[in-house]
Amino acid sequence: MIRVLILVAYSFGMMITGFKICLRATNGYTGNMTTIMMSSIPSAYSDLPVLNDSPDYNYVVSTASRGIGLEFAKQLLFRTCGHVICFSRCAEVPALKELENKFGSRMSIVPIDLESQGSIDNAISQVGAICDQRKVEWIKGSGKVDVLFNVAALLGDQSESAPGPERSVLDVERWWLEKSMQVNLISHIMVTKGLSPYLKRPRDVQMGKVVNLSARVGSIGDNGLGGWLSYRCTKSALNQFTKTVSLELKRANCIAISIHPGTTDTDLSKPFQKNVKPAKLFSTEFSVSQMLDVVFNQIEKDDGGKFYAYDGSEIEY
Ligand SMILES: NC(=O)c1ccc[n+]([C@@H]2O[C@H](COP(=O)([O-])OP(=O)(O)OC[C@H]3O[C@@H](n4cnc5c(N)ncnc54)[C@H](OP(=O)(O)O)[C@@H]3O)[C@@H](O)[C@H]2O)c1
Repeated sequence: MIRVLILVAYSFGMMITGFKICLRATNGYTGNMTTIMMSSIPSAYSDLPVLNDSPDYNYVVSTASRGIGLEFAKQLLFRTCGHVICFSRCAEVPALKELENKFGSRMSIVPIDLESQGSIDNAISQVGAICDQRKVEWIKGSGKVDVLFNVAALLGDQSESAPGPERSVLDVERWWLEKSMQVNLISHIMVTKGLSPYLKRPRDVQMGKVVNLSARVGSIGDNGLGGWLSYRCTKSALNQFTKTVSLELKRANCIAISIHPGTTDTDLSKPFQKNVKPAKLFSTEFSVSQMLDVVFNQIEKDDGGKFYAYDGSEIEY
């Protein structure tokens, strides 16, 4: 009974803190938001500045079940006042449930299998319903998505069930190449297509943004080593998508960029971390905070179509 009372009191405290933050933000508070948010930020984020204090913003993270995507979801919840829509293949991921318990109505978990077009269509409809409900006055018709993060990818661990990344063209398995294309490229094109009516907006309001998680190995100009054929090809093609769609979306006040997170300590990089110097292996907290700084504080209207590294430097295509 006492434990239940403590839990209720704690949750109530968190709700009041969150409510105060967003209330001050909505009322045009211009003071030091970092200080205000300190009490509700876990120590890992206490030194990081607030990214956006508007409660009207909608963010979509595709996908947020683990690794870099999960960290995007966390930092967007802790460092903005907007609504965060987390795509996840499994709806019952403990880390996402924990965030949902903490942030309640500021977050939605939407199930998606990126290899199924039916599942993508279903997820898009759910995002539409959420954003239409949170519609702001200045936008005509449907609601809006302010930033879409296309994150998910497969690299493989050179096992039989995940034979990437290949050392030689002779190692390429057709099914793995096709699967990598499905997850790393086609799904992001189809999610962006589905959400494009929500990303487009009039010229005189805040810009919409599409952030495609690429990788330095996707750069054709920078490729001096070869290997990793399936993964490289999907990332190069994703970069072409960034460039192409950004030219179209620019006319509707939305930009698209590709970004490389740096070698980051996740399940994806784990099998290949042996030769990475400790200083070159980033935590998800670090690489995501760097990328969010680029997305929120660096890129402007004319930067659409560019390929960035986590530190804001440009990478050649
Ligand atoms: N980590 C690095 O060093 C590094 C370096 C350069 C670029 N990147 C890029 O950064 C991005 C994030 O990588 P990461 O390291 O965070 O990878 P990760 O930890 O391996 O996470 C991969 C994510 O993709 C999701 N996913 C895979 N197939 C899916 C499907 N069919 N349907 C729905 N979700 C699916 C996974 O969901 P489940 O949990 O359901 O499997 C998971 O959320 C990727 O684009 C990667 O290429 C990473």
